[in-house]
Amino acid sequence: MKIQDLDHKDLTEVPGTPGPNPERSLETREDPARAPRTPQNEAVRPGRVTGPWGARAAVVCAACAVWCATVWMSAHIHPDPALHTVALFVHLSSLVLGFGAVLVADYLIAVWLVGRSTFAEAVAGIDRLHLLIWTGLIGLMGSGTLLEPDLATVTARVKLGLVLVLTLNGLQAMLLSKRMKAAAGVLNMRLLAWGAITTIVSQGCWWGAMWIGFITASARS
Ligand code: HEM
Repeated sequence: MKIQDLDHKDLTEVPGTPGPNPERSLETREDPARAPRTPQNEAVRPGRVTGPWGARAAVVCAACAVWCATVWMSAHIHPDPALHTVALFVHLSSLVLGFGAVLVADYLIAVWLVGRSTFAEAVAGIDRLHLLIWTGLIGLMGSGTLLEPDLATVTARVKLGLVLVLTLNGLQAMLLSKRMKAAAGVLNMRLLAWGAITTIVSQGCWWGAMWIGFITASARS
């Protein structure tokens, strides 16, 4: 069988059984997001999600409080060299976890943009990556507090600023994710522009923080 045939094979079939899975077939028929394969032929309809703004404000305040605690602890904790080394290892591991998951999320978007997956598949995949991204970011913040950043330097301040923007951008990205899910594959320009800006801000902050961390580590060694 050629690869082209595989691409268009009915994926609702259950391996080892002769026919299509009735449950999944039904799901495919009912979900308009599964049928279109490219962004161009997906219809346009905004996805609306309404939610408690008080709860959202509380989450933003909590995130800012965690960031403030990170800055305060960075200035007051002075670990011994062994703990510093362990923290650096955790820092780099968290970077792999968090930024790795971000790159996979952007890859899923790219796969959808070239028409190799449906929008619903891309959004569902990204949804599963949130936990890894947040775990990585929290790991970076926690371990960073033990790395004794010199808060008097502009680079350290810029890096912490980038981390705050990254955190807030991550929170609004979760709202975007909900809106995109609610849109069920039918997109409008507003959601697309929102997604593009979110991605640009995220990439800018991750690369910026990584670059500053690398410069700092190089200067110390
Ligand atoms: C998105 C968040 C972050 C990213 C991507 C990031 C990335 C990095 C990278 C790539 C290094 C270089 C490690 C090496 O080459 O050995 C580094 C080092 C460092 N990071 Fe971060 N970091 C982040 C968050 C933080 C935070 C929140 C703090 C402080 C609270 C921090 C403090 C430091 C310090 C002080 C170093 C130098 C460690 C040393 O050489 O002893 N980082 N970071």
